[in-house]
Amino acid sequence: MPSGKRGRFPKGTAVLDAARQLGVYVESVCGGRATCGRCQVSVQEGSFAKHKIVSSNEHISPKGAKEERYERVRGLPEGRRLSCSATIEGDLVIDVPQDTVINAQTIRKAASDRVIERNAAVQLCYVEVDEPDMHKPLGDLDRLKLMLEKDWGWKDLAVAPHLIPQVQAILRKGNWGVTAAIHRDMESSRPFIVALYPGLKNEAYGIACDIGSTTIAMHLVSLLSGRIAASSGTSNPQIRFGEDLMSRVSYVMMNPDGREAMTKAVREAVNGLIDKVCAEGGVDRRDIFDCVFVCNPIMHHLFLGIDPTELGQAPFALAVSGALHYWAHDIDISVNRGARLYMLPCIAGHVGADAAGATLSEGPYRQDRMMLLVDVGTNAEIILGNRERVVAASSPTGPAFEGAEISSGQRAAPGAIERVRIDPLTLEPKFRIIGVDLWSDEDGFFEQAQATGITGICGSAIIEVVAEMYLSGIISEDGVVDGATAALSPRIIQNGRTFSYLLHDGEPRITVTQNDIRAIQLAKAALYAGVKLLMEKQGVEAVDTIRFAGAFGSFIDPKYAMVLGLIPDCDLTEVKAVGNAAGTGALMALLNRNHRREIEAEVGRIEKIETALEPHFQQLFIDAMALPNKVDPFPKLAE
Ligand code: FES
Repeated sequence: MPSGKRGRFPKGTAVLDAARQLGVYVESVCGGRATCGRCQVSVQEGSFAKHKIVSSNEHISPKGAKEERYERVRGLPEGRRLSCSATIEGDLVIDVPQDTVINAQTIRKAASDRVIERNAAVQLCYVEVDEPDMHKPLGDLDRLKLMLEKDWGWKDLAVAPHLIPQVQAILRKGNWGVTAAIHRDMESSRPFIVALYPGLKNEAYGIACDIGSTTIAMHLVSLLSGRIAASSGTSNPQIRFGEDLMSRVSYVMMNPDGREAMTKAVREAVNGLIDKVCAEGGVDRRDIFDCVFVCNPIMHHLFLGIDPTELGQAPFALAVSGALHYWAHDIDISVNRGARLYMLPCIAGHVGADAAGATLSEGPYRQDRMMLLVDVGTNAEIILGNRERVVAASSPTGPAFEGAEISSGQRAAPGAIERVRIDPLTLEPKFRIIGVDLWSDEDGFFEQAQATGITGICGSAIIEVVAEMYLSGIISEDGVVDGATAALSPRIIQNGRTFSYLLHDGEPRITVTQNDIRAIQLAKAALYAGVKLLMEKQGVEAVDTIRFAGAFGSFIDPKYAMVLGLIPDCDLTEVKAVGNAAGTGALMALLNRNHRREIEAEVGRIEKIETALEPHFQQLFIDAMALPNKVDPFPKLAE
């Protein structure tokens, strides 16, 4: 458990061997010498009627001398056994402790709990190497390789070149007992010795990192236990070169050293974040052996030192779309000298490795139901599909959803209005502010709000305020503020030929202008038209389930997204925010290399649709400008 795999084994079989034969991953560093303690399991006691098994601690061998010594010296939690030492003596249900439950508690919001089966690319293997013998003139390194093959089954091992001059000294320092870190996910299928330590080395970590245009998020994870040691984030320092992706591409085009400067800035930020997670997790950065990255295509190019200019114009050609393998050192990531770096594949010119990560995490291709997965940023990345077929596109939503281009817009930060309600009779607003855990009441809230330093309105509230203005009759289906409502409330203010809604009559004064509404309409129409185009490609009238990935998705209320016609009609209980799904995908690829092959194969199967080349897109876009839509019905919303 929890894999549920079953099998029959002769009495006396080590539990670790049985697990391996069943394909259940149980960590082991010392090779069954009962010294590393990584192979711990426990026995579930009781009758398991479904499988007709009576499992009992009586059916496992008593602790032997080696296991007892380990328990004495290092301690063994109550009920735990070393599976390398304990043998099967009768029917058993064995629990493999899952330290890999990810609380997907990413930078901003918890999404869903999940269990990732571990099969990391890096394995630590302890061996005792024969001492040199004048009659068998085989080199130290060659004897080490022989032992790694004999004890651990590693064939055709290669060695990271920087290690070769160190092998002699390490072997002698360890008195011929050494631990090799073996990486088995290189571009060539050969396993590589990437690090070597005297004696028993019992720690190996990896990082999973999502480089977004605004935020960089990182998990530091034990590759041996799957435990998340720390998670943190930092802002992307490239913002100083350009707020959004396209302005960063322009910066590269206009400045000869622009690409280099941005590459340096993002790599420094990643190294700074590694410092931060290592300090938080109490981990030495030299114990990081594997790094998995996901990024949008422009970040992908800039991080890897590739000119992103081609991505700024049609046909949006990626320099490389497949998964990439590097020595982390070559990308200036300062972790262990032998650490590797894996970048997930990109799906298309504007649907990057981050979308691949989100796809891996949410797995539309693993289910029968039609899943819509959207990651809303400056560009919305849209994936739609099921087991049969998956299609993907990106749509230029612009920065309005992130609060840019909105007169009082700002990023989601303390002081920003994040939720809005408008009384349909009085047209008076109520709102919630980030950092203030209260809804307003009509009497006196604004004084409170001023006291807590209200600063602006963020993306989630912009969606809500426009939807509430529509629901309360302030704006029409076409998104025009109805001047007649000015007679009903002093909050409707005339500005020349258009009208605005006064949301906050204090300092700062916050109005929702006709231009703001127009910016939201353009953004939501772009997203919806992209989704609709993919639905047409799939030949479906409706989707079964919707997943909102990314920070923005975590904060918007699905009901309001649907009132505005941001997403197609769907049962509201089937609309879920999944937090940083791209980061979760990176974590999955870090902890289990099979997930790398899975997403590489899947990305090859995903059909990419270029919205700019679809003549029909324009009409879908025009229809989607209306609230919620000019032609499409929203029956679930009416329910
Ligand atoms: Fe190391 Fe069991 S494999 S203690």
